[in-house]
Amino acid sequence: MSDGSARPAVKLGVLISGDGTNLQAMMDAVTRGELRADIRVVISNKASARGLERARLDGIAAEVIDHRKFASREDFDSALVAALRAREVELVACAGFMRLLSPVMVRAFPNRIMNIHPALCPAFPGVDAQKAAIDYGVRFSGCTVFFVTEGVDDGPVVVQAVVPVHPEDDEATLAQRIHAEEHRIYPYAIRLFQEGRLEVHGRKVLIKDFPAIASSSGLINPKP
Ligand code: GRF
Repeated sequence: MSDGSARPAVKLGVLISGDGTNLQAMMDAVTRGELRADIRVVISNKASARGLERARLDGIAAEVIDHRKFASREDFDSALVAALRAREVELVACAGFMRLLSPVMVRAFPNRIMNIHPALCPAFPGVDAQKAAIDYGVRFSGCTVFFVTEGVDDGPVVVQAVVPVHPEDDEATLAQRIHAEEHRIYPYAIRLFQEGRLEVHGRKVLIKDFPAIASSSGLINPKP
């Protein structure tokens, strides 16, 4: 197996709108030495996002770019691109960022923007995916890290994790079970990128020699 861990830390920009527990999972993975990432900046479109505080506590630059101050989605995205480029960001990780990205962002970072969706893509795209899974009656759901394209939650899949849906579940209990897996697979997906193991071919992501991560009760594919 090639030793991708010898590569330099990936310069990461994280986009958030809220709590930022996925951001926290990335920061914790860096602290534990499981992820070689230099989080150059955390950007939120909302000043109230708790994730901003998490970043600042860790000494990470945290900025607010309020989408309401821009006339169009494209203008907002141009400001994002400028802020990310100013920090020399190589990979953008959307982590609970509640704005659709326009071609301005997607084309500025082709196959360089990841997002996480709380369902097994292509099932249940868009908001309220956990409620949609319960309402549909599926027996399994999960989460997906993918490369952002110009569509909604439909980009090439990097990593997925599966969790069971129990009869007594409500949106909150399912969301919690999925969240626990999100916190495992997002740092893992970024690590695969940092180690130079990801190649995008059309809508498929080829993973070369993927490394091991600690075992989990979830079903992760590809299996570490
Ligand atoms: C997660 O459920 C993620 O899948 C979705 O938004 C939520 C963000 O949670 N895109 P957090 O802010 O990282 O806690």
